[in-house]
Amino acid sequence: MTERTGSRGRLIALEGVDGCGKSTQARLLGAQLGALYTFEPGDTELGAAVRALLLGPGPAPSARTEALLMAADRAQHVDELIEPALAGGQWVVTDRYSGSSFAYQAWGRRLGVAALAPVLEFATGGLAADLSILLEVPAALARERLGGSDPDRLEGQGPDFHARVAEGYRELARSDPDRWAVVDGTADIGAVAEAVAAAVEFRLGRPG
Ligand code: TYD
Repeated sequence: MTERTGSRGRLIALEGVDGCGKSTQARLLGAQLGALYTFEPGDTELGAAVRALLLGPGPAPSARTEALLMAADRAQHVDELIEPALAGGQWVVTDRYSGSSFAYQAWGRRLGVAALAPVLEFATGGLAADLSILLEVPAALARERLGGSDPDRLEGQGPDFHARVAEGYRELARSDPDRWAVVDGTADIGAVAEAVAAAVEFRLGRPG
């Protein structure tokens, strides 16, 4: 692993249910901070192949296989993109990180936080996000924002699944308030972006 220095960058994750607007906000925040913008699953060449397995029309993975494939994508993402950037002093904004696995696989798929935690620790090499931002929107608004577009395998899960994911996110943020900030995602894009930027500055300051 790359040697850690005093000028190490910070890792910020945007999290939330499908349709919460986090991809837009992650891009805006990345640009505003001059940070590296990345996403999961699929932002490396290997990860793109894993994403196709996870979300494409092929055979559905079992819940544990899904969790392991998400973890494999994350391991590659950390090793290839995130860790080198942080070690070089750059800040990184990622659209989804370990919080997504806790919300979707531990809660949504009911695999449980205790089962997932060691898998994610291994996958990330122990790299936790300095700050995860949960964009909270009611389920009806998230569905409306997704519109009529063809749902992928996870978007196509029923309302009970998505309710568990949302509850998982709320619980994650409640149980670790030092590492999570909750931002109301219902306002217009500019207002949400300002709230996200304010949360980041309050918790982490600005890139040096
Ligand atoms: P995302 O790329 O955010 O969706 P989209 O491109 O459609 O906006 O994420 C794809 C799906 O993967 C999303 O439904 C959440 C899911 N996911 C998990 O279930 N676990 C994970 O660990 C990650 C990173 C994503």
